[in-house]
Amino acid sequence: MYGLVNKALQDLVESKHDQATWHRILERAGVRQSFFVWNEPYDDSVTYSLVAAASAELGQPAESVLEDFGVHWVLHTAQESYGPLMKAAGRSLPEFLHYLPRLHDRVVLLFPDLKLPEFEILEEGEDWLVLGYWSFREGLQPFVGGLVKGLAQMFGAQVEVSLRAGRHTGLDHDEFLVKW
Ligand code: HEM
Repeated sequence: MYGLVNKALQDLVESKHDQATWHRILERAGVRQSFFVWNEPYDDSVTYSLVAAASAELGQPAESVLEDFGVHWVLHTAQESYGPLMKAAGRSLPEFLHYLPRLHDRVVLLFPDLKLPEFEILEEGEDWLVLGYWSFREGLQPFVGGLVKGLAQMFGAQVEVSLRAGRHTGLDHDEFLVKW
């Protein structure tokens, strides 16, 4: 994934803990570079190793590291570095989620080598919807849950997110029930 993803993970660890903790995570992960160039692609294994090392170092399940990372990504990385793009994407949680399929289409202009996930609203009611998520990558479902929670916080909304069905039940995608 692009360097900005690994940088965002570093930012999360340094803001909740400190630089020394991040250095121990780099060491545990066997990652040699001490900084990431934001617009340069890195092998996905770098990100996965960093998440696993963060989980071991912080004594926190990997799923919970990924979820915290999703929240942090929306509330800090995306808002601070891509504010106008985030603002243009909607004025409420459901509006933003409807726009999500097109959001990364705009991001591709900045990062041409992206291997992007796809999103689609599969069903919806007055205060809920089912968000479909297709990805080349495995195991990032808790990250998506965290992203949606971060979006809800951004709009000052309460939200419940659960994985209704998915690759673990034989589908080719995952389905999140989002209630607000
Ligand atoms: C303007 C804001 C955003 C930017 C600049 C951005 C950019 C990126 C980048 C660079 C990656 C790494 C992919 C790669 O290197 O191949 C990524 C991955 C991802 N993004 Fe975004 N993104 C943004 C907002 C969002 C939001 C709001 C969501 C909400 C659901 C989201 C969902 C994801 C997911 C789930 C991945 C993991 C990749 C995968 O599942 O295969 N992104 N994004």
